[in-house]
Amino acid sequence: MENQKKRILSGIQPTGTFTLGNYVGAVRNWDALQDDYDCIYMIANMHAITVRQTPAELRRKTREAAALLLACGIDPEKSVLFVQSHVRAHAELSWVLSCSTPFGELTRMHQFKEKSAKHPEDINAGLFTYPVLMAADILLYNADLVPVGIDQKQHLELTRNVAQRFNGIYGDTFVVPDAYIPKTGAKIMSLQEPDKKMSKSDTNVNGFVLMLDDADTIVRKFKRAVTDSDGCVRAGDDKPGVTNLMSIYGAFTGKEFAAIEREFEGHGYGDFKLAVAEVVKDKFLPIQQEYRRLLDDKAYIDTVLAQGAQRAEAIANRTVSKVYRKVGFLQL
Ligand code: TRP
Repeated sequence: MENQKKRILSGIQPTGTFTLGNYVGAVRNWDALQDDYDCIYMIANMHAITVRQTPAELRRKTREAAALLLACGIDPEKSVLFVQSHVRAHAELSWVLSCSTPFGELTRMHQFKEKSAKHPEDINAGLFTYPVLMAADILLYNADLVPVGIDQKQHLELTRNVAQRFNGIYGDTFVVPDAYIPKTGAKIMSLQEPDKKMSKSDTNVNGFVLMLDDADTIVRKFKRAVTDSDGCVRAGDDKPGVTNLMSIYGAFTGKEFAAIEREFEGHGYGDFKLAVAEVVKDKFLPIQQEYRRLLDDKAYIDTVLAQGAQRAEAIANRTVSKVYRKVGFLQL
């Protein structure tokens, strides 16, 4: 049955530790998908350098990202876990695909517009062609499904266009991937400004919880979370702060809003916030322990990544050969 499973591919950039939002929105699902899908998980270090990085730090963060993913339950026996730059095919396919991507389509990308506004001193061509590299990541592996958050949806749409255009010109080559929308897709908002997505680039550190925050920090951040003056644990558009805390509590306990409302009937926000902090701590502290244990064993991490790269390469190189043949590159 092995090869009847649909293939899922996802990537995450190794730019700092993941937030609670990354965990709920992405990494947690990566673990859950492993049994039902053929999963390929990539640490996107080539995408990371579209924004200036300190080399030693990028190296360190790449290993740390691998350790954290393993600690979160990514099982290298079940899934392929690898680092993008270890598989040359990503750069190779990216070039060919860039020649099938209209300039105008890239100029419409929201993320390019936002990032170039944020880093006016470094609007490099890589930032502009970023979605083409992402298309290569996906199309190299014939991925059926790509779990993406709202911020990457436009890039997946572009990937589909590129694949369809290429298939139209050169004949059937790529699987046209679909977005995978997780069943429990709670979007986690900032604890300080609950109308904004939780982000580690937030200048207010109380807005986000990191997976590697210690127990006291987690409690402190939840205690300071913005709520409202109504004092009642109830979800609603008029109560974004409390609703966000309920989403977090629900994501970590599997409880529905109605059950959470019943559980905290007659309780104040203080009790509720502590309960949220508690379930988050219960989940993150063991992951942190496992993360530290793994990081102490660099040889193990590197072996996992080397094996992952080998498995990824076997698939990716086949796609590149096929593409090179189709576009008319001379074979020797
Ligand atoms: N661009 C994605 C992000 O920043 C990471 C990524 C790179 C990715 N390649 C991918 C995600 C391929 C899905 C599929 O979140």
